[in-house]
Amino acid sequence: MQNGRKTSLVLGGLAVTFTALAAAFLGDLPGRPVPPPVVPLVDRAFLSTATVRISYADLVKTKEDLSDFECYTCHQKDKPPVLKYDENQKLVLPKAHRDIVMGHGTHGRNNNCYNCHNESNLLLFQPHDGRDLKFADSTQLCGSCHTPILRDWESGVHGRTSGFWNRTLGPIERKDCVNCHDPHSPKFPGRPPAPGPHQLHGQSPTPAAT
Ligand code: HEC
Ligand code: HEC
Ligand code: HEC
Ligand code: HEC
Repeated sequence: MQNGRKTSLVLGGLAVTFTALAAAFLGDLPGRPVPPPVVPLVDRAFLSTATVRISYADLVKTKEDLSDFECYTCHQKDKPPVLKYDENQKLVLPKAHRDIVMGHGTHGRNNNCYNCHNESNLLLFQPHDGRDLKFADSTQLCGSCHTPILRDWESGVHGRTSGFWNRTLGPIERKDCVNCHDPHSPKFPGRPPAPGPHQLHGQSPTPAAT
């Protein structure tokens, strides 16, 4: 008899305790753990190693459309295109070339097409040193006026070099000027900076200014 009372007392006590605990959990008395902050993934565009432009040489390599470079599908070999200017001596581009925006230099000093293209053979460049350069040799054209930058480029200081440190294992590749600069409007467009590393452990307190 005594044992029976003890059991029901213990059972009753347990039932009360568990009900109280259930109420406490349902009512979220201890509070739930704060979910960790969602770390946003870095935009995949930041991982791209592509250059901002595709040069003629790259178009040839990847067998892309070269029709922009086939000048003589529209022009005649014995008729150099005549440059047209408005009343302010500003070059006027025909509709056929509306994708070209001329803005080479801040003072319009290098907007004459024939500073670079050869009027009597549109498939060549004519740097002022008299060489005949093909479309794929445009870096030499740029270097004919931007000599210090070409020197920097050749030594790997300006531009981008990829390939092998150890040249006995394989070659290096230097991206052409026109992979980064539009020859007609060469100012580099700039690109947004990638976000810094994420602080998984939250911010450490800023040290007090001294
Ligand atoms: C889709 C046709 C087409 C192609 C391809 C083309 N052109 Fe033209 N281009 C024209 C037309 C149309 C004009 C305006 C009429 C004219 O001057 O013959 C023109 C005008 C020009 C002019 C004079 C610009 C001015 O200010 O008046 C130059 C320079 C020129 N083209 C160079 C080139 C070169 C270099 C190439 C090849 C890399 C080329 N074009 C390819 C159609 C074309
Ligand atoms: C005929 C000479 C000549 C050639 C060829 C030439 N440039 Fe320039 N470049 C200039 C001049 C002049 C300026 C303007 C300098 C200034 O305004 O102080 C300039 C300015 C620039 C600038 C500075 C941005 C700007 O617009 O002011 C860049 C970048 C540039 N050139 C890249 C190139 C590239 C790439 C090539 C080859 C596709 C090239 N240049 C070919 C003469 C040339
Ligand atoms: C500073 C030198 C320079 C000047 C000035 C210049 N070009 Fe070019 N142009 C180039 C180079 C370099 C390329 C080839 C770029 C490449 O490999 O992507 C080119 C490519 C082109 C092309 C074929 C690709 C395209 O963008 O359509 C045409 C057409 C052309 N130029 C027309 C002109 C005309 C018209 C003018 C004058 C309004 C002019 N260019 C002035 C250097 C120049
Ligand atoms: C990998 C990309 C890349 C290549 C390849 C490259 N450049 Fe640049 N260039 C840049 C960037 C980025 C800047 C800086 C733009 C800025 O400061 O706003 C620049 C700046 C310049 C300037 C302006 C310098 C100044 O002092 O204002 C000139 C001129 C220039 N480049 C010419 C060239 C020539 C010529 C070549 C080829 C021999 C070349 N670049 C190759 C990316 C490149």
